[in-house]
Amino acid sequence: MSYNIAIDGPAGAGKSTIAKAVAKRMNYIYVDTGAMYRAMALFLLRNHVKPEEMEKINEQCQEADITIRYENGEQVVLLNGENVNKLIRTEEVSKMASISSANANVRKKLVSLQQALAKRENVVMDGRDIGTCVLPSAEIKIYLTASVEVRAKRRFGELTAKGEQCALAAIEADIRDRDRRDMTREISPLKQAEDAVLIDTSDMDIEEAVMTVIELCRQKGYER
Ligand code: DC
Repeated sequence: MSYNIAIDGPAGAGKSTIAKAVAKRMNYIYVDTGAMYRAMALFLLRNHVKPEEMEKINEQCQEADITIRYENGEQVVLLNGENVNKLIRTEEVSKMASISSANANVRKKLVSLQQALAKRENVVMDGRDIGTCVLPSAEIKIYLTASVEVRAKRRFGELTAKGEQCALAAIEADIRDRDRRDMTREISPLKQAEDAVLIDTSDMDIEEAVMTVIELCRQKGYER
C-alpha cells in the first residue's frame, strides 16, 4: 500500500512550495499535476488549436503522450519524449491550460496517469481535483487557499523579481478569471473535498503550513 497526500487549491495559494517541502521531509515523491495540464496546453498551442475550439481539443489531445520522470528529485514532464519543463510557465500556456483542462478527454487521460503513479509510490500530489476525483480515498487531504489579493501580490513579487514588467491589477484580474474557470467548470471543478482540512495561507508563512501537514501525517500514522 502506498501513502498519498492530496493537496488542492486555487492558483497562487502556495501549493507547490508547500507540497514540495512536505514531500522532501516525508521522503515522498512530489507530483505537480498542473504541469501535466500545462504540457497538454503547450501541445495544443503548438498545433495552432485555439482555446475556444473544444472539438479540436477533443481530437488533438489524443496525439499527446505526456509522461513524467524524476531527475535529481525534480519532476520532469515529457511531451512526446521532449522535456518541456522550461516551456510551460508562460502566461499563454497558463491560460490555455486553464481552458483545455475543462475538457473531458484531456482529464481522463491525465487522471489515469496520476492514479497509476499514486498506486505505485508514496506521493504528495497537488492540483485542483486530487482530493475529490484523483485520490478520493487519500487519508490526508488539504485544501490550501489564500485571498485573491494576497495571491496576486505574491505573483507580482515573483514576476518583478525575475525582471518582468507587470501590473498588479492585471494579475489580480487574471487570477479571478482562472479561479472562476477552475471553480465553475462542469467536470471536476475546484472545490474543497468534504474530508479535506482547510489551510488559509493569507497570514501564514510556509513553515507553519508545512508543519500543519506534517502533524496530520503523524496523527494518521503515515510513515516516512
Ligand atoms: O497548478 P497550475 O496553475 O500549474 O495548473 C494549471 C492549470 O491546470 C489550472 O488552470 C487548472 C488546471 N489543473 C486542473 O484542472 N487539474 C489539476 N489537477 C491541476 C491543474
